[in-house]
Amino acid sequence: MLNNSPAWSALKDFHLQYKDTHLTHFFNEDDHRFKNYHLDHDDLIFDYSRTHLNSSIKSALIALAKQQNLEEWRDKMFAGEKINITENRSVLHTALRAQKDDVFMHDGENVVPEIHDILERMEHFTNAIHDGKATGYTGKKIDTIVNIGIGGSDLGPYMVCEALRNYKKEGINSFFVSNVDAEHLLSVLDQINAETTLFLIASKTFTTQETMTNAQSAKDWFLKQAGNDSDAVSKHFIALSTNQKAAEAFGILPENIFPFRDWVGGRYSLWSAIGLSIALSVGFDDFRSLLAGARSMDHHFKTAPLDQNIPVMMALIGIWYRNFWDMDSLAVLPYAQNLHRFPAFLQQLDMESNGKSVDRGGNMISYNTGPIVFGEPGTNGQHAFYQLIHQGTTIIPCDFIGIKNGAAGYEDHQTKLNANMIAQTTALMNGRSIEDSDGKTYKSFQGNRPSNIILLSKLSPYSLGQLIALYEHKVFAQGIIWNINSFDQWGVELGKVLTADILQKINSDSLSTENIHYKIFKS
Ligand code: F6P
Repeated sequence: MLNNSPAWSALKDFHLQYKDTHLTHFFNEDDHRFKNYHLDHDDLIFDYSRTHLNSSIKSALIALAKQQNLEEWRDKMFAGEKINITENRSVLHTALRAQKDDVFMHDGENVVPEIHDILERMEHFTNAIHDGKATGYTGKKIDTIVNIGIGGSDLGPYMVCEALRNYKKEGINSFFVSNVDAEHLLSVLDQINAETTLFLIASKTFTTQETMTNAQSAKDWFLKQAGNDSDAVSKHFIALSTNQKAAEAFGILPENIFPFRDWVGGRYSLWSAIGLSIALSVGFDDFRSLLAGARSMDHHFKTAPLDQNIPVMMALIGIWYRNFWDMDSLAVLPYAQNLHRFPAFLQQLDMESNGKSVDRGGNMISYNTGPIVFGEPGTNGQHAFYQLIHQGTTIIPCDFIGIKNGAAGYEDHQTKLNANMIAQTTALMNGRSIEDSDGKTYKSFQGNRPSNIILLSKLSPYSLGQLIALYEHKVFAQGIIWNINSFDQWGVELGKVLTADILQKINSDSLSTENIHYKIFKS
């Protein structure tokens, strides 16, 4: 098992050796700490100088990655091998950002031409909506998009649309409905006009209960508004799905179904047809830039040596703290209000992928895997939960995400925002020691709390694509090193099965009267 392996033992020894060494020591030892402990790719900088790493620890971490055959597994993913063993599927979301002349093989077939055909259909459709060539049933221009989806069919596209607010197409409003709580749908229906609204039913499986319930209620509402004109539905409902049959059964015309394949995991699907809400919100050129940014990070992940590979180094630092320092959380702190949904997106990406306790051979494992991920934009978080990060009894490694250039004309805001970010990383590292006159130590604390900084020059579609792909590959690398399958989600599936069972009992009146469920639903 991994935790009995030579590379693991070496890291355990390093932890014993350095567990009482303060972070500032690593800085004091090296005059060029930032220079030596940062990496860059394109315009993205990864600064890991405030972590408990020196060159020997770094080599031991790289040895762990090599021992676990990370490079071989990475190549298998890009080659379309069925590395999602429990579902017998390839993992090919990287193919979605391929250029036309790239080759990605799946079952002996190059999938890139098919991907580009769908992209072209998406482009054509997006432009037709923006140019007013595709209109609503009364001939009015579409000005509202409602994406109905949940999990990966919501979190990614919603996060990107929020992040790229500054790139929004004029005259298009987008809404995202995910929760089966009717209040979510109603809060949107209250604000829209059926004549000018396009509903995107986004669901890989087209069976997800929350999405199908919301889609049906939206369709009922729409039909009421449209005087029960069922032909009108075809102009206002489109599907983004792998399940063509179910989408047609729902009443969506084949030409209004944008497909993708089962080798795109839900939490990796914003690059596929699921991203149509993004294209409609920001325009197709910017959607292509998002893909190009991700492709550039794919190239970096595939080709950079492990010790200069940003996703690999991020993964290894995460493992260093999770497994050897026993830190169980990761705070993701974007200093950009427009990234306010990024931590929620990352929760699914990381926790659904690596929240596992069985290895790829089906054995229970005896070491820790994915951390608890949480976060909020700075500086807001500073006035909420940072106190615990600074002085609490739990140590939480942090990823700070900074943007060099913010809103034009408001440079003063950006300077303050980034000054806050640097101040936090410094305070976390240094802590504070104050000689209180009465000998009490309330205000003194030791610091020694690790953090990374990821710096983008601008929150553009391209750099956002890079940032998302960076985290995708980090999560992948960790899953490989932990010897788990990052691409299934059996825990979530059990919840779905049990919900169906409970619903069946409610509907058939077969709940036992003794049961708490009976008391909730029937009494
Ligand atoms: O939450 C579990 C999950 O299976 C996710 O992996 C997925 O993103 C989400 O449900 C939605 O699934 P679908 O796109 O099939 O509706």
